[in-house]
Amino acid sequence: MPYAEAARARGVHVHHLNIGQPDLPTVAPMLQAYRSFDHPVVAYAPSEGFLDYRQALAGYYNRLGVAGDPIRADQILVTVGGSEALLFAIAATCDPEDKILVVEPYYTNYRGFAHMLGVEVVPVTTHASEGFKLPAERVRAAIGPGVRALVVPTPGNPTGMVLSHAELAELGQVCVDHGIFFIVDEVYREFVYPEDGDASAVAPSVLEVPDLEGHAVVIDSVSKRYSGCGARIGCLVTRNRELYAACLRFAQARLSPPTVDQVAAAAALRTPHEDMRAMIDAYRARRDLLVAGLNAIPGVSCPTPEGAFYLIADLPVADAEDFCIFLLREFDLEGETLMMAPAEGFYATPGEGRNQVRLAYVLDRPKLARCLEILRAGLAAYAARAPAPRASMS
Ligand SMILES: Cc1ncc(COP(=O)(O)O)c(C=O)c1O
Repeated sequence: MPYAEAARARGVHVHHLNIGQPDLPTVAPMLQAYRSFDHPVVAYAPSEGFLDYRQALAGYYNRLGVAGDPIRADQILVTVGGSEALLFAIAATCDPEDKILVVEPYYTNYRGFAHMLGVEVVPVTTHASEGFKLPAERVRAAIGPGVRALVVPTPGNPTGMVLSHAELAELGQVCVDHGIFFIVDEVYREFVYPEDGDASAVAPSVLEVPDLEGHAVVIDSVSKRYSGCGARIGCLVTRNRELYAACLRFAQARLSPPTVDQVAAAAALRTPHEDMRAMIDAYRARRDLLVAGLNAIPGVSCPTPEGAFYLIADLPVADAEDFCIFLLREFDLEGETLMMAPAEGFYATPGEGRNQVRLAYVLDRPKLARCLEILRAGLAAYAARAPAPRASMS
């Protein structure tokens, strides 16, 4: 960010492909709920969240289709974003010095939350050449003493990988066999782009897999689904009563999830299907443009992500971080440059991801097209310059 700020101070416009802040407007029912909130006191909400909101959420999950009995409101805990749901889930399943398995490259905050709790992250590496799929056998091989949970996002950040129902079931079976929890981060559930263009498709949920009642924990959020990141509302869903009770105790300690935002999140559930589709279609069109454009640049390659709004691209550079800094510090194309996230930070395994970047397609298509031009020109300029050591901020 300091490099980006310095670029801006030089008068250069920086396109941000580095963060997952959607540019699309927050859904209309949510904005309307904020505008019409009219209570004399903004009071605490119940620690587990408002009952009517949890009932509405249960309806949402049951409409998606769940295995076994319908999901009930008392299996849903409203949290401060998906972030707090993750924190509670890891805190409730692990003691300090325990371990969680995370699919690598991973959403970096998994590591942050684990670190806060004194929990060790054990990476299970996936590869671009395999479409970043997570083979169950690789997970099984990584399970050792002290491992309490497997944490997987699907659709995935940073890779866009989506687990099929069969893959979720296979991973779930591994968790059952080894007596560990299966924490599935489904905050991008609606963001899938199937080949057949099925407009009603959503990513398979672990709630659809039978016989995982004791093991499965769903992490969810309104942030991306309704383009409402600042609402700070998420939830945790589990049928495991003991685990729920442990998470509820953490929730009681922090008193309450946001009151006004829960009202807005409940309204968001009433977003018309066509509005949701328009949002997903916009992301699909962006993905298609970006993937085709990247693969057309000499030396650049990326698999086609099936979901979310991120992708990992291989660049023809030895050190993607150095290149990202170069773009901000030394390069511009007619007064514009690009900020990308070096992918090394999404890996715990040393050396992995050094030539990769993560891009978030949260800009409109004309801007993405411009970003591709800047990237192409930036790579050519970088290749032409004398090799320089990695820049430092000091
Ligand atoms: C995979 C994943 N999980 C969880 C979150 C947490 O989001 P929030 O706390 O806004 O719900 C994010 C945010 O980017 C994410 O990408």
